[in-house]
Amino acid sequence: MGAVPEAASAKLVVEDVGKRFAGDAGGAVVALAGADLHVAPGEFVSIVGPSGCGKSTLFNIVAGLTRPTRGRVLLDGEQLDSLLGRVGYMPQKDLLMPWRSVLDNVTLGLEMSGVARKQARAQAQAELGRFGLKGFEQRWPSNLSGGMRQRAALLRTFLAGRELMLLDEPFGALDALTRQTMQEWLLDVWQADRKTILFITHDVEEAVYLSDRVYVMTGRPGSVQMCVEIDLPRPRRFELHGSPAFVALKQRLLTPLHEASRSQLDAVVG
Ligand SMILES: Nc1ncnc2c1ncn2[C@@H]1O[C@H](COP(=O)(O)OP(=O)(O)OP(=O)(O)O)[C@@H](O)[C@H]1O
Ligand SMILES: [Mg+2]
Repeated sequence: MGAVPEAASAKLVVEDVGKRFAGDAGGAVVALAGADLHVAPGEFVSIVGPSGCGKSTLFNIVAGLTRPTRGRVLLDGEQLDSLLGRVGYMPQKDLLMPWRSVLDNVTLGLEMSGVARKQARAQAQAELGRFGLKGFEQRWPSNLSGGMRQRAALLRTFLAGRELMLLDEPFGALDALTRQTMQEWLLDVWQADRKTILFITHDVEEAVYLSDRVYVMTGRPGSVQMCVEIDLPRPRRFELHGSPAFVALKQRLLTPLHEASRSQLDAVVG
């Protein structure tokens, strides 16, 4: 994929970003071959791709935790040294700190970007209700349900990332029913605030339900192979899952994803 015209006004541009890790015994691992994508301000964009194709590596690069071996990342057209305070990142294995209360966990990102504790707490207090955590702020994370823990991690990300949220499979570990409820809830929060969201998921239905556009990655080492517009009306509700347009979009994503996953397996099995 070359440069896209919309990229000029994009919130985030990822241009030919790749990563090679120096492996054990001198062998290098190419974790990401070279990814191109962009996200417009206020857009909800998802990435799907086979396991191990480099999705989390891409997020680590965008968040500034990993240095890319090639390519560049632009936020509002600028290449930045630090995205602290501008990008909120919820990693795939997001752990709330068990020794900090819910409130102290959700203010962590703000405090790390230099916001005074008192002000961070005030900002968090104002959002607790909307994130379904009011009355639970003094609890330990171990006393929360799975869905609540994810909402606490999401609140931390939401508070830390004023402009862009990177969410790496935030609902992956939840049961199907809680997951659906969380998807609807996330759409409500996003609809109200219109933060820019880049979202990784294994679940094609989830990608179609939530997104404006979905990027499909190739198998390992990954690059972007296609982008599908999700032209379904909003606000979206659960009933949409049964509509012919929804099913057709799901199929458009499943076919290339299945092929990518198979060719990755063939490369391993030989
Ligand atoms: N620090 C590292 N050192 C060496 N190799 C790594 C490192 N981090 C990731 N890799 C490798 O890079 C590849 C991509 O990993 P990554 O976690 O980005 O994939 P993913 O698409 O997020 O997978 P999943 O869908 O399973 O979460 C994998 O082969 C992984 O083993
Ligand atoms: Mg991952």
